Amino acid sequence: MVKAMTVFGTRPEGIKMAPVVMELESRGEFEPVVALTAQHRQMLDQVMSLFSMRADYDLNIMKDRQTLHDITVRALEGLGRVLADSSPDVVLVQGDTTTAFAAALAAFYARIPVGHIEAGLRTDDMYNPFPEEMNRRLISSLASMHFAPTAEARRNLLACGVPADRIFLTGNTVVDALKFMASKSDAPLPEKFVAMHSPDRRALFVETHRRENLGEPMHRVCRALRRIVEADEGCEIVFSVHRNPLVREVVFGELEGLDRVILLDPVDYLVMIRLLRESFFVLTDSGGLQEEAPSLGKPVIVLRENTERPEGVRAGNAVLAGTDEDRVFGEAMELLKGGARYAAMSQASNPYGDGRAASRIADAILFFKGLSAAPPDEFRG
Ligand code: UD1
Repeated sequence: MVKAMTVFGTRPEGIKMAPVVMELESRGEFEPVVALTAQHRQMLDQVMSLFSMRADYDLNIMKDRQTLHDITVRALEGLGRVLADSSPDVVLVQGDTTTAFAAALAAFYARIPVGHIEAGLRTDDMYNPFPEEMNRRLISSLASMHFAPTAEARRNLLACGVPADRIFLTGNTVVDALKFMASKSDAPLPEKFVAMHSPDRRALFVETHRRENLGEPMHRVCRALRRIVEADEGCEIVFSVHRNPLVREVVFGELEGLDRVILLDPVDYLVMIRLLRESFFVLTDSGGLQEEAPSLGKPVIVLRENTERPEGVRAGNAVLAGTDEDRVFGEAMELLKGGARYAAMSQASNPYGDGRAASRIADAILFFKGLSAAPPDEFRG
């Protein structure tokens, strides 16, 4: 029996960890333990209830306008106590948040092997995204098992000196989560959306929250959005506004009250997928949305200077636009024309996974612990 502790704290980690938690629960070989930092409170709670997950430990660390120091210190201290109390055999962390980094470090201090889900993503710019690129690199140094979502991620890990037999090519669990959601009945759309949306218009779904985009870059994006709705009366903006007060101040300040702009509080994952389906294309700096949109055949304008997810750009589903006002405006207007470019970018396919990542991760853990003879099969993107 392997006691496997999953640690997570934010909405996207919760979504991508949920298939793993469910997989561990369904297998007799594991004793799963769930520990939350709750770096995000409300947004994480939505995910916990949607996937019917229950926390064994909840550190509840979130503070208003928390700094990176706050998150790191509070998570590290709390997780030290949790690990001492629970003594798991392995600790699983996901992605590149400060929660994931602090959990990997706490496990290392306790000499407990770490499995890193979504390992090997890189931009090779240590400040972009900030602090995620550094979090990923640090977790790669701390982890014993590296669950790479794509072949490119595996190459990045090998280039950092990670031994090949510690890397498992699993696909991304976000595709498992999407498939699981498809089996659920549709959630009602938010009242505000229903009241303001017109089916005759093309909806552009927007989400931006990254730390490196806070302040002036986010103002530029909002000004581009304003120009887009002014230039094309046949479209509307549907913006899921992150709970971060620094995001809300800019977005509400720039866009509240404008015609054909619908500003929503962060919606449930199930509702978000419904809104994505209803949309014409997506503008975002979110990693998860870059991975989800291709499955739904929605083009993505990436509001970042670089991306650790080049697979979508290469496959032709995404374009890297940065946060320059004219560039974002230009890319959006081009897509709004429809035509060949839109058609090429909306081919549904997913280079990120096949829906079996969680089962490969569970198998890899058993292999790592010497409880099975062979590693899992590999995801072939
Ligand atoms: C965090 C992660 C980022 C991830 C993102 C997904 C770090 C440093 N950043 O960024 O990698 O892409 O989550 O959303 O780990 N807040 C609430 N309620 C919530 C959630 C947040 O009020 O449910 C507010 C808090 O005031 C908090 C602020 O949002 O201070 C920012 O949250 P924080 O976790 O610091 O950064 P994110 O931008 O969410």
